[in-house]
Amino acid sequence: APHVHYRGNELYVEDVRIADAARAHGTPLFLYSKASMLAALAAYQRGFAGRQAKVFYALKANSSLGVLQVFARAGCGFDIVSGGELERVLAAGGRPADIIFSGVGKTRREMRRALDAGIHCFNVESEAELDVLSEVAQEAGTKAPVSLRVNPDVDPKTHPYISTGLKGNKFGIAHRDALRVYRHAASLPGIRVVGIDCHIGSQITEAGPYMDAMERILDLVAAVESAGIPLAHIDFGGGLGISYNGEQPPAADALWKQLLELLDARGYGQRQLMAEPGRSLVGNAGVCVTEVLYLKPGEQKNFCIVDAAMNDLPRPAMYQAYHAVVPVTASEATASSYDVVGPVCESGDWIARDRSLAVQPGHLLAVLSAGAYCMSMASNYNTRGRPAEVLVDGAAMHVIREREDTADQLRREKLLP
Ligand code: LLP
Repeated sequence: APHVHYRGNELYVEDVRIADAARAHGTPLFLYSKASMLAALAAYQRGFAGRQAKVFYALKANSSLGVLQVFARAGCGFDIVSGGELERVLAAGGRPADIIFSGVGKTRREMRRALDAGIHCFNVESEAELDVLSEVAQEAGTKAPVSLRVNPDVDPKTHPYISTGLKGNKFGIAHRDALRVYRHAASLPGIRVVGIDCHIGSQITEAGPYMDAMERILDLVAAVESAGIPLAHIDFGGGLGISYNGEQPPAADALWKQLLELLDARGYGQRQLMAEPGRSLVGNAGVCVTEVLYLKPGEQKNFCIVDAAMNDLPRPAMYQAYHAVVPVTASEATASSYDVVGPVCESGDWIARDRSLAVQPGHLLAVLSAGAYCMSMASNYNTRGRPAEVLVDGAAMHVIREREDTADQLRREKLLP
């Protein structure tokens, strides 16, 4: 990523030397490039140029307020999946009318709060949810704007834990049931049908699955509208992948060029179009800086024990995910092969395996592509405080989250009498 680069031996995020950031703010530390986020967004905006189209950032990827401010100021909407995320967007200055609400398990309380706030629409994932939402809306004296999330049943060719559009997934309404559920929705007193959406998975690196999903969704749009139910918008979800280890996913503008050709060919190019990307907007904007604590040579493996762990950066432990790990100060010293592991008491607590590194205790390493699904999935396991986060803008550093201390963690706990 051009926003994370070496100048000489030193690794930088934009114009900030990572070693300086680590000295000032400690480790483990997340650094995010604002320019990288805006460049990623610009690719979608270029792809959508001349269309009625809007990006709704899926903030589950990184929901820190400072990150949300960057996207809100750049004109993004937001895709939320909980009442908590709703409050985050509002706290960051996002407009309720620019919020869509996804997720399979919305509670009545969350629905009511979102209705009162006046969000753009609910992406409804089941018939049962539709009935409850209609009731909640009636109690509130209103009609809930609804888009049905349809499961197009295409294989996104990604990790099974993050593919969501197959028949066996808990997500969405089955394609063959969708027309019936739309009819039901249209008959409910508390529901106003406004659109259709889908989301087939995450870290998708090919255009093919999107094209297949698009065809399947457009077939449904035609069927639903022939049944007399107009669909104002079409939302294609998120899921576009990034490069962690040489993957070459299509750029957002190239992907949308293809999708728009298909939409135009079928006469839907002038619809209100929406997308809900998360990872592709923030993933490559972030690095996690960590200090080497100990080197532990072994019979079969050498371990490089660092101060970041699975609680800070859960993707390797959860999905065997690959993140590149590079020195913050490059050296000519001889490299050895290491597993980079954290201090947490689990064998699953690793960050990278079999990496060639020239390291000594006290050296800093940067875990790359750590902007998405790292901090937002961080936990306090082993009573570890979550890292600080700094947004880099040119040569400026803005602390957007202070390091969590133990007092923060103990605050809600009560001793027995
Ligand atoms: N819309 C919906 C309805 C979603 O479920 C998701 C992600 C997105 C949009 C955004 O997808 P993206 O553009 O970020 O791929 N924790 C996993 C990824 C889980 C994705 C869940 N849904 C990981 O670290 O790989």
